[in-house]
Amino acid sequence: MINYDKYFVKRFYYSNNKYRFFDDRAMTDEFQDDVYFFASEFAKAHQFSRILDIGCGVGRLSSFFSQIGYQDITAVDFPEMITRAKEENYSSKIIYIPSSAQDFLSDNKFNLIISSGCFGAIRKRDFFYKTLDNCIKMQNSGDFLLMVDPFHKNNFLARGRARISVKDIIKYMQLMGYSLEEKSGMLCIPIQLLIAHKWKMSESTTKRLFYLGELFLNLFSMYSLADYKILSFKKNGALS
Ligand SMILES: C[S@@+](CC[C@H](N)C(=O)[O-])C[C@H]1O[C@@H](n2cnc3c(N)ncnc32)[C@H](O)[C@@H]1O
Repeated sequence: MINYDKYFVKRFYYSNNKYRFFDDRAMTDEFQDDVYFFASEFAKAHQFSRILDIGCGVGRLSSFFSQIGYQDITAVDFPEMITRAKEENYSSKIIYIPSSAQDFLSDNKFNLIISSGCFGAIRKRDFFYKTLDNCIKMQNSGDFLLMVDPFHKNNFLARGRARISVKDIIKYMQLMGYSLEEKSGMLCIPIQLLIAHKWKMSESTTKRLFYLGELFLNLFSMYSLADYKILSFKKNGALS
């Protein structure tokens, strides 16, 4: 059996109920909280009735959704993750399903499918597109697919080996009848690398730098310098 953790932990490591990018704790905390905050604001704004958290990890994001009132959340990841998720983020509102993303296909339709770091971590191109195709099948027109993912072609920054560009994803989604609603990014690469490559800094300095990076991205719309790309797609009526 493949040890998925081992694969995954090459670039991330897990401690204290969180994945940490390289070994920077303060920055990972800030970043993950920002992703969860962003996703929950997105969910609040749209009032979805059923959510799928694909590649849910230990279930922190799903747990956020349950805390803001969502009652019907499905969360999928490899069995090792789901075991932890059930222990660490149990909720009667979350159905945890042990499955690879590419093999998960449900008869249910999901108004929001969210990938927080999953698509960017998928190892193979065919797995990537199979996952995407399954997600598309599990949605009706008007539903949203939100990706907050490290999409890179560059080997150093890419997490999975699929290495699919944002341009390719947008093109594919548009072909499949989705419109691009938002394209932005977070986690400024230069600041991130500066921190990750270990000039040892205090937690407060790390946090300040993190926010400086995010400010920089926002002010100048330096989307290309964002490690995590934010893509939101809405399924159109025509092909549903
Ligand atoms: C960066 S972590 C993010 C975890 C969680 N979404 C969060 O935001 O806390 C990426 C997750 O994607 C999962 N993942 C990567 N490839 C996957 C695949 N092919 N099928 C299912 N899960 C996958 C990993 O196991 C990991 O839990």
